[in-house]
Amino acid sequence: MRKAVCPGSFDPVTNGHLDVFARASKLADEVVIVVAVNKNKSGTFTLEERMEMLREVVSPYPNIRVDSFMGLLVDYCKTNDVQAIVKGLRAVTDFDYELQMAQMNYRLTEIETLFVSTNPIYSYLSSSLIKEVATYGGDINGLLPGTVQERLLTRIAENKK
Ligand code: PNS
Repeated sequence: MRKAVCPGSFDPVTNGHLDVFARASKLADEVVIVVAVNKNKSGTFTLEERMEMLREVVSPYPNIRVDSFMGLLVDYCKTNDVQAIVKGLRAVTDFDYELQMAQMNYRLTEIETLFVSTNPIYSYLSSSLIKEVATYGGDINGLLPGTVQERLLTRIAENKK
């Protein structure tokens, strides 16, 4: 069985991420969305909240599930018998860093990284940019799954109190 991971912070998951997950689900028998635990960085959403939102949005895909990991991604992959890492490439600006990580991960355990070219309608999206626009009242309709958008707007309103 071919197993792949889509790793990231997903704070929160965007429609761009979702597009990559859907495409990865056609390439592997099982896809695990793995949320990186970063002890030095407190996000907008807790790890549990991010995972809950991810589980909600991938529920239509029977071969996608959600997990988290701490430490090196390659260690998670080795322990869980994962053969490939699938990442979305939005633009050339992503390329240097993504290539560097792919090469380092290959050096560590010979795991392959597959790049999916992000759908152009989402190529400018990032969780942090959406959060910034939403914080200042900009229109973020269509950039996040509906329930995620609601939760983000609620969280921003709470943080302003
Ligand atoms: O969504 P992000 O924050 O761009 O995701 C980056 C992530 C989590 C995929 C990357 O930082 C990662 O793989 N971190 C785990 C630690 C690790 O394995 N570092 C070595 C990478 S070569």
